[in-house]
Amino acid sequence: MKKILITGAAGFIGLHLAKKLSGYCKVDLIDNFFRAKKDSEFKEIIKKKNVNFINYNLLKKIKIKKQYDYIFHLAAIVGVNNVISKPYDVLDKNFKILENIIQFSLKQKRLKISIKNYWQNTINPLIYVKKII
Ligand SMILES: NC(=O)c1ccc[n+]([C@@H]2O[C@H](COP(=O)([O-])OP(=O)(O)OC[C@H]3O[C@@H](n4cnc5c(N)ncnc54)[C@H](O)[C@@H]3O)[C@@H](O)[C@H]2O)c1
Repeated sequence: MKKILITGAAGFIGLHLAKKLSGYCKVDLIDNFFRAKKDSEFKEIIKKKNVNFINYNLLKKIKIKKQYDYIFHLAAIVGVNNVISKPYDVLDKNFKILENIIQFSLKQKRLKISIKNYWQNTINPLIYVKKII
């Protein structure tokens, strides 16, 4: 069974991805409920045996020791109100979260996607979802 990590898993995109992939893989979910709520749909997903929820603030260095086949990074501070009212804070925090996930990814030995390929737009993450399921 493939091992997947989804950050921002309680959010809009993360929740739907977690719901889908939890039907096929071992899935670890990270969120700190900065924006999303622990609603009934999310509670149903984390009840599954193959799903592990980690309530963690990604502004802190990630200390998880596991190896993953795929990481879907969807945690971010979004929302028009946030961006308009405190743009520098939003940028600063989103870069910090991204830096932490990149540092963590560099320790992963099995990852199938590289940041280089992603930025060169040669890989569409949706293709990976189709490959996994
Ligand atoms: N929703 C869209 O239509 C859309 C379109 C294009 C791109 N995106 C991008 O996809 C990503 C996810 O979007 P979304 O709509 O699911 O957003 P969302 O706000 O619903 O989800 C983001 C999740 O990240 C979590 N989060 C924020 N800070 C965190 C932290 N420090 N530690 C742990 N978790 C944290 C929030 O609690 C939330 O659950 C964002 O980068 C967004 O810009 C979204």
